[in-house]
Amino acid sequence: MKVLVTGGAGYIGSHTALCLLNKGYEVVVYDNLCNSSLESIKRVEKLTSRSIDFVEGDVCDKAALEQVFTQHDISGVIHFAALKAVGESSEIPLDYYQNNVFGSLCLLDVMTKHQVNQFIFSSSATVYGEENKPPYVETLKIGNPSNPYGATKVMIERVVNDLAIANADFKGVMLRYFNPVGAHESGEIGEDPKGIPNNLLPYVAQVAVGKREQLTVFGDDYSTPDGTCLRDYLHVMDLAEGHVAALDWLNNNPGFTGVEAFNLGTGTGTSVFEIVSAFEKASGVSIPYTIAPRRAGDLPEFWADASKANQVLGWRTKRDISDMMIDTWRWQSANPNGFSKA
Ligand code: NAD
Ligand code: WQD
Repeated sequence: MKVLVTGGAGYIGSHTALCLLNKGYEVVVYDNLCNSSLESIKRVEKLTSRSIDFVEGDVCDKAALEQVFTQHDISGVIHFAALKAVGESSEIPLDYYQNNVFGSLCLLDVMTKHQVNQFIFSSSATVYGEENKPPYVETLKIGNPSNPYGATKVMIERVVNDLAIANADFKGVMLRYFNPVGAHESGEIGEDPKGIPNNLLPYVAQVAVGKREQLTVFGDDYSTPDGTCLRDYLHVMDLAEGHVAALDWLNNNPGFTGVEAFNLGTGTGTSVFEIVSAFEKASGVSIPYTIAPRRAGDLPEFWADASKANQVLGWRTKRDISDMMIDTWRWQSANPNGFSKA
């Protein structure tokens, strides 16, 4: 079975492509490389001893997508391609709506024309918005995210639900990721943010290799056990395996049509201070930090109720916080400049 992976050169997409290849799927990656490099694809090919059909292209380019669907016998699509920086999305909202929402519309339109009905979407815990209390469970009403990035995920979920009502053959899976971290255990592929990292783990890892002076902890006065925010961090390889589980589930249930949402998380919250200590323990490097005011838009705490993914997909996380830190450090210390050789 041939799977189209949009955004497959990126962080989560490259790990997922690796798992798909290892499971025997054929993979076509479609990516415009706006936040990634071809080197990740080359390394996945080396790690799996299999080849990937790579097409450089934009999901907003319907003509280029048409060519892909004409040239390849695609059975299903995993759609990662998106812009994902929460802060930036408030500065250039139109770019986010164009890239994420319009890009998804283009992709779904071309899929529909080619009668490709399996669609797995990279959604996010952000769709639960600010109103809901943890643990987040799929039966909760979708919230109202405070930033354009989060709004694009809510909008795309809505589009997919409407499409499934109109097309009785459509099979959609919304995977709502919590906080993916870590890297493949080889240390050959991992997260390679451009510029200053927005997220906690990449920032900590860059402090550890001397690329950043110190970590800024955004707020230690939350009403949480140690005053810092709690998040549900999950290993990117567990997350990647979740995509394979979702695809296997679709293939093993040919009668399924409609849309199902699944939380992918561990079910446990970990604080910023706990992450810093765990990383220090894994790497043997001390992480200097200062405390700064809270970051706008941060929620004090949230984590997943991941029992639906366990019961329906047979998926659960296998790797713990220590594995996440060890693998992050292996990747970052072996590749201080990410995929670029500079
Ligand atoms: P990433 O930036 O590493 O990967 C996204 C990939 O999509 C990149 O390779 C980029 O070049 C490509 N891309 C972006 N716009 C494109 C376009 N218009 N056409 C073609 N390719 C395009 O990000 P990631 O962390 O791997 O995230 C993958 C998906 O998961 C995204 O949809 C993101 O919103 C979602 N997600 C990520 C997280 C997270 O914390 N990393 C959490 C929840 C959801
Ligand atoms: C985690 C904790 C920060 C950086 C984001 C998106 C979310 C999802 C995953 C895509 C928070 C603290 C961080 C730093 C810090 N992405 N922190 N210093 O905000 O939970 O989630 O990524 O869908 O939508 O919002 O992740 O890693 O940015 O922050 O103290 O330099 O670390 O305040 O408490 P977040 P994060």
